[in-house]
Amino acid sequence: MKPKVFIARPVPPEVEAYIAKHCDYKIWKNPEKIPNHILLEEAKKVDGMLVQNAAVTRDFLSQLPNLKVISNTAVGYDSFDLDAMKEFGVIGTHTPFVLDETVADLVFALILSAARRVPELNNYVKQGQWNKDTKAEELFGTDVHHATLGIVGMGRIGEKIARRAVFGFEMNVLYHATTPKPDLDEKYGMRYSGLDELLSKSDFVVLIVPLTDSTRHMLSRDQFRRMKSSAYLINAARGAVVDESALIEALKSGEIAGAALDVFEKEPVDLDNPLLKMKQVTALPHIGSATAKTREAMVMKAAENLVAGVTGEVPENVMKE
Ligand code: DGY
Repeated sequence: MKPKVFIARPVPPEVEAYIAKHCDYKIWKNPEKIPNHILLEEAKKVDGMLVQNAAVTRDFLSQLPNLKVISNTAVGYDSFDLDAMKEFGVIGTHTPFVLDETVADLVFALILSAARRVPELNNYVKQGQWNKDTKAEELFGTDVHHATLGIVGMGRIGEKIARRAVFGFEMNVLYHATTPKPDLDEKYGMRYSGLDELLSKSDFVVLIVPLTDSTRHMLSRDQFRRMKSSAYLINAARGAVVDESALIEALKSGEIAGAALDVFEKEPVDLDNPLLKMKQVTALPHIGSATAKTREAMVMKAAENLVAGVTGEVPENVMKE
């Protein structure tokens, strides 16, 4: 008998065909996010499920005695309670590797947008403010090439960012991570530093760490005070790595020059969030990995992990504590 799975989001036909070959399955085909109560009801009937950043809490898991595997279609898994997963014997999987280059590309789109005021000046042109009285200095931005980039987090994506920075933009790169990475220092000519030093020396600070108890609000009032008043914050990690109210204050008081954010503490971000009113803030709707090719690769990877898990193989990408 084939294992039973529930696919809690639409998937491309080839992914569905792959799942069909190995499992009895049901799919949520509605493009709107599946309501929690339906997810719970479906999850009660299956051995495994494929989700997109579902809230996998202790309470949720306690109602699913038969569930063996939950496969997340994302690299981050901060919405999963890993202690409870362990306790209930449920394997969690995620989709690293396939999105690294795509996310690193977006980080550079954010850096360049902030430095050269791309979204702001795009509006300037489209709203008819560019005219014969425009003064050249009104349009000035900041150089990215040869500037100092501070990368907070030096995992797979951090390394791809460093490579672009060093070889593409000839930037001087500092990074902060749980441990120094001497092999990467040599490869990219970059340097490990403490967080305070990185903040005080960088022209651009990029956050690319997972959200955990130790990274939540890693950047708050004290950290913004250490940054240069000419520096930009780039967040492509998770919104809650930054204390958003402290960021708003730092931007209002000119403690930092600007921010480019792909993520927010609450998503979708509320329209009355003060960050959206600031012209020195670039705001994107959490699109780090959002290219058609990468998202297809992620969902195929999630399906492979799911099938492996429910057929008794060891999935390639098991979530780690
Ligand atoms: C990821 O894969 O973690 C992206 O941020 C989407 O959630």
